[in-house]
Parts: sequence; structure tokens; C-alpha cells
Amino acid sequence: MEEINTKAELEKQTEYTDMLKDILFMRYNCSQPKAHVRTYGCQQNVADSEKIKGMLEEMGCALTENAEEADIIIFNTCAVREHAEDRVFGNVGELKALKRKKPSLLIGLCGCMMEQQHIAERIYKSFPYVGLVFGTHVIHKFPEMLYNAVTTGKRLVERGVDDGQIYEGIPMHRDGSFKGWLSIMYGCDNFCTYCIVPHVRGRERSRQPKIVLDEAKAMIQSGFKEITLLGQNVNSYGKGLEEKTSFPELLKSVSEIDGDFRIRFMTSHPKDASKELIDVIAESNKICNHIHLPLQCGSDRILKRMNRHYDREKYMEIVNYAKSKIPDLSLTSDVIVGFPGETYEDFQQTLDLIREVGFTSLFTFIYSPRVGTPAAKMEDPISYEEKSEWFSELLKVQEEIAAKRCAEMNGKIYKVLVEEQKKDGILCARTQNNIVVEVAGTPDLIGTFQNAQVTESRNWILRGKLV
Ligand code: SAH
Ligand code: SF4
Ligand code: F3S
Repeated sequence: MEEINTKAELEKQTEYTDMLKDILFMRYNCSQPKAHVRTYGCQQNVADSEKIKGMLEEMGCALTENAEEADIIIFNTCAVREHAEDRVFGNVGELKALKRKKPSLLIGLCGCMMEQQHIAERIYKSFPYVGLVFGTHVIHKFPEMLYNAVTTGKRLVERGVDDGQIYEGIPMHRDGSFKGWLSIMYGCDNFCTYCIVPHVRGRERSRQPKIVLDEAKAMIQSGFKEITLLGQNVNSYGKGLEEKTSFPELLKSVSEIDGDFRIRFMTSHPKDASKELIDVIAESNKICNHIHLPLQCGSDRILKRMNRHYDREKYMEIVNYAKSKIPDLSLTSDVIVGFPGETYEDFQQTLDLIREVGFTSLFTFIYSPRVGTPAAKMEDPISYEEKSEWFSELLKVQEEIAAKRCAEMNGKIYKVLVEEQKKDGILCARTQNNIVVEVAGTPDLIGTFQNAQVTESRNWILRGKLV
């Protein structure tokens, strides 16, 4: 592959950014045009949006949560399920009225949906007021693309080829001040047969450990209390790096940084979850005793068809090892119901495994065919209605498990991070093992660690008091 100088490329983008300051100033006749960035999908997109916001701020824009007052609107989209895409189509449709009211409004769409040819085409045809369409591989070129869109007045579509590079040093606007995301890798090489992510996010590549560590240190110094290390499969971190580093090693180094903070990570693919990883979690009091370990399905036959590379036995082996090593461990998971060819018996095996593990919570999805994935071509005889019935059954089973898990916490004291205040004034605080406890308290406690005693558990909601 041709050598790409990512630093020179970003310097070029800085020049576009500088030019845009004047151009946007004139176009919108104000010193700080307003930009609205809406994010759909997972934390990868949240992290990408933080970069887009960072670049917009460098261009002199002020960020706004209110689309109606914006001069520039960017939607960062998700393609993981049809429902996610439908929401985007609906919301983009609603922007038509805003564009009519304010012809200078610039609307851009980016993210995973745009990396699919048929979607990009549909957007281009159906929404003529969308001025800029760009994919996940070209985010670093946002200033240049915006410059071209504004100066030529033409509609611009830029869906890149994955150049396999990591562009370090893109400006960033972090959304939070005490909870933050830290990408350690990009892309995915796993090609689970139902999943669009590898097709829209490109090949897996890891950031240098030193860069990750420096970024973590900077976050902690500026007051962050919780850092979540991000990747589609963090357990395969390090592939292709000159300086060989495994994920457990990286995790350990981050946990050894001085300061009062805690660490989470997502997502851990069960096929690569090692005992070494569990040991690192068990030995550190900064790494949260929570593992998100997507199961997807409990039937070996279906797991094979999903190309997941583990079976029930391997899954339970790592779960049992983790339970034996990590006190008060909380396990959460993703489950897909109704994968093509799945029978009610397969589904019962999923329920079985869920009961055996005792997850604290689950993200549950009905299978959604994605164009271009192998599963979309598999025979799928079960109706959506029937899958919906299985889905309800799954929710009921999980509700019971979660209620039981929460009841076990009653009376105990936990170190919690106070996250937000609800409308009724109650504070939401999160335990290490990722369970929310509602407590009475003043908003100045938001962003601090406190101790909370659980006094009441109602299904999966916990009430408590600060002690
Ligand atoms: N990299 C992560 C997951 C990314 S997508 C991992 O491997 O766990 C998040 C979740 O969406 C997946 O875990 C899966 O449960 C769900 N998902 C992905 N594609 C899907 C599809 N086509 N239909 C239904 N659910 C899907
Ligand atoms: Fe999708 Fe599988 Fe990659 Fe996760 S590991 S992003 S489910 S292909
Ligand atoms: Fe969606 Fe893209 Fe994430 S498809 S789930 S936003 S990687």
C-alpha cells in the first residue's frame, strides 16, 4: 500500500479550517455560526462525533443542542439494524422544513450508513437538500469537504476507501467532563455473518500504546473520573503493532496511572477473552468489576452460522473463571433473537445459558437482515411475529434474573460515581459493576465518587442513601 503521510494530511486540513473561519463568518454573517451534531449508534460514533465537533469548533463554530437554531447540521448515522436506519431517514426528512426556512443551512450526513452504496444513493436521490455525504473513512477530511461544499455550492459525496491509517491529532470536543471515551482501536476483522460493522468501518487497526496512555493521563489530569476504552473487539488489540502489546497489558498500564478514577472497556469478544484479562481485572481496584461479553446466542449450531468462533462450553469457561476471580462481578451481554435458521429449540438454549450466567442486564435485538452480509442470504423461515413472541419471552426471563440480582444488593454499601440529576431532583449514581442507584443529594456531587448504601430494590431499579 502507498505510504500515506497522515501528519501532512492533517496539516492540510488545518489550512482548510483556517480558510473556513472567514468563509463561514461571511456566509452566516456572524462571528460564531452555530453547529448541531446528532449522533446515532454506538460509542464509536460518539467518539467520531467528538472529533467532528472538535473540528467545527476550530472553524469558529459554537455547538448547539438545538437543530432549529443551527447553521450547520451534521447527522452521524448508524447502520447496525434497519430500525436505526429508519430513524435517520425519518429525522433527515424533518430537516426539509428547516432548510426551506433558512436556505443557507448546510446539512451533512456521515457515519456508518453512508459507507453503504445503496444507502448513499438513496439519500442523494431522496433528500436533495442534503449538501454533504461522507463515510467513516474520511472523517479527518471534514474541513476540506466542508470547504468544497460551501465554496462550490455543489452537493458533495465522499465515501472513502479504507486507507488503513490512523489519523492522530484530530481536534476533539469531549462531550463529558468526568466520564469519557477513549478509542484504542478502529474497525473490525471478525465478520460475524449478521453484522454490517466490518463492511462500514474497515479493517481493524490499533492505536500505539503510548498514544493511548498519554491520552488517558491527559483525561485524568483534566478531572475525568471514568474512562471507557473502546473498540469493536478490544481483546484483539495490538494486532499489527510494531511494539507487541496485548489488551490485558494495555489495560494494566492504564490502571497504573496515578489518580482517583475508574476504567471500563467495550466490547470484549468471547472468542478472545483470556484468563490473563480476567486476572488483570481481578488485581486492580480501578478496573470496574463489570464485563460486557456479548453472547448473541446460546445454541452452538447457530453460533457457528454466526461465525462467532466460540461455543457454549468456551463461553461458560471464561464466565466461570471470571466469577471465581472477581468479587461482585456483573456480566452484561448482547443477544440476537431469530437469526436465520434459528429454531425455538435453539432459542431455548439461549434462555438456558442466560439463566446459567445470570446477567445483570442485556441488550436484546431481533435479527435484522443487512444488505451485503452472508446471513441476509440465508433462509429465514420464521416470521417476524413469531420472533417477537420469543423476544418477549426473553425479556421476561431477563427481568426476573435482574430483579433477583438487584435484590441481592439490598443493604450493601458501594462506591458510586454520581452521574446526573433527574427531573425530580434525585441523583443517579453508578456502581462499579454498572448498576444505577438513585440517591437524594445536591447537584454539586455530580462527577464525584461517593459511598451509597442500597435501601430498596424494585425490579432493576435501586434506591439508596449516601453514607
Ligand atoms: N463489536 C461488538 C458489537 C457491535 S454491534 C461485539 O462484537 O459485540 C452491537 C450489537 O448489535 C451486536 O452485539 C449484536 O448483538 C447486535 N447486532 C449486530 N448486527 C445485528 C443485526 N444484523 N441484527 C440484529 N442485531 C444485530
Ligand atoms: Fe460485528 Fe462481530 Fe465485529 Fe462485533 S465482532 S462488530 S458483532 S462483526
Ligand atoms: Fe452502528 Fe456503526 Fe456503531 S453501524 S453500532 S454506529 S460501528
